[in-house]
Amino acid sequence: MSIRFLLLLSGYLLLSGCQDTSQSESRSLSDILNMNTDRVVRDFDSEQIQRGSDIFHIHCAGCHGENAAGTPDWRTPNSDGRFPPPPLNGTAHAWHHSTAVLTKTILKGGPPEFSSMPAWEGILTEQQVDDIVVWIKSLWPEDIYTTWYHNFEEK
Ligand code: HEC
Repeated sequence: MSIRFLLLLSGYLLLSGCQDTSQSESRSLSDILNMNTDRVVRDFDSEQIQRGSDIFHIHCAGCHGENAAGTPDWRTPNSDGRFPPPPLNGTAHAWHHSTAVLTKTILKGGPPEFSSMPAWEGILTEQQVDDIVVWIKSLWPEDIYTTWYHNFEEK
């Protein structure tokens, strides 16, 4: 029995404890048992990964850190109420978002009153943003990428 399965199962048990028992709104246990946990091979283009890394280290690493490792205490807001730049390397929650949402976040940035994430539209091309997103995904640990892929790419 894999660790991932145990985590999924305990997540299910925790969640089911605070919901009513109707199966219509929640994911059923059989859905979770049938969930595809097959490993996904990343066949990214190594030149694209290199381009993404280069652009990231020019424009983004100043905030998000070398290799997108982020700010250690990214969960604690600054004194102005905004959050520090999170890691994008699979240790925070970039991997909770689809490719479309990640791309939009980069192009549009955050609302300035709440966020210091700049908008890159008009500064970076869509191709450059795609390159960065592929590089970011190449950093994620295999388990994280597999979970992300089954959640977003298979629907
Ligand atoms: C001035 C600092 C700064 C720069 C430069 C910056 N970011 Fe951010 N970024 C942030 C902050 C802060 C957040 C957290 C989101 C928030 O507070 O709204 C963020 C969030 C993000 C997220 C969403 C992460 C998540 O977990 O959902 C992505 C993706 C991202 N940035 C990518 C980039 C990329 C790619 C670049 C370079 C092109 C970049 N950022 C440059 C500050 C920055």
